[in-house]
Amino acid sequence: MVGRSNVGKSSLINALANRKQLARVSNTPGRTQLINVFATPSGATFVDLPGYGYAKASKATRATWPRMIEGYLLEREELDRVLVLVDGAIGPTPLDQQMLGWLRHHDIPHSVIATKADKVKSSKRPRRRRDLAEGCDLDPGDVLWVSSTTGAGIDQLRSMIDLWLQP
Ligand code: GTP
Ligand code: MG
Repeated sequence: MVGRSNVGKSSLINALANRKQLARVSNTPGRTQLINVFATPSGATFVDLPGYGYAKASKATRATWPRMIEGYLLEREELDRVLVLVDGAIGPTPLDQQMLGWLRHHDIPHSVIATKADKVKSSKRPRRRRDLAEGCDLDPGDVLWVSSTTGAGIDQLRSMIDLWLQP
């Protein structure tokens, strides 16, 4: 999982695992500062990467972030797919677009997941879906919308992950 700080990466890992605080969730952006790895009974492993774009992160953290994350994404041979989490209410941000451009440039398999679907009013959803997808250079059907709060889209994401992980 990669995405802007506070986008809901840790929350999504908890929702997928059906656990409340397996991954640390916080209102304070920048909570996840290391690469956190979660093994599942099926043998799959989820990796919660620190969020990008957290302005208040210390200079040292901001300086090591690109090396740590880019190194991980480029060199981890076991990596099957990157889930790029984009805030459903406000995304994509320029940093999200930069991340997508970087993944495309390096030909790293990835999918865009829109988070916090519950924060978008139903009347605004069709428009928001179009805008978010367009900002990511994708068709609306290529983006999966989820809410870790309500559980919307979580089962569908689980099925997709099963497909992606098939040998
Ligand atoms: P960093 O570790 O700082 O990079 O953040 P993160 O991407 O891991 O985000 P985290 O899961 O800690 O969630 C950040 C905030 O968003 C918390 O206050 C969560 O409760 C909230 N949040 C996460 N998912 C959802 C969601 O689906 N809906 C709503 N309404 N809030 C959410
Ligand atoms: Mg986190």
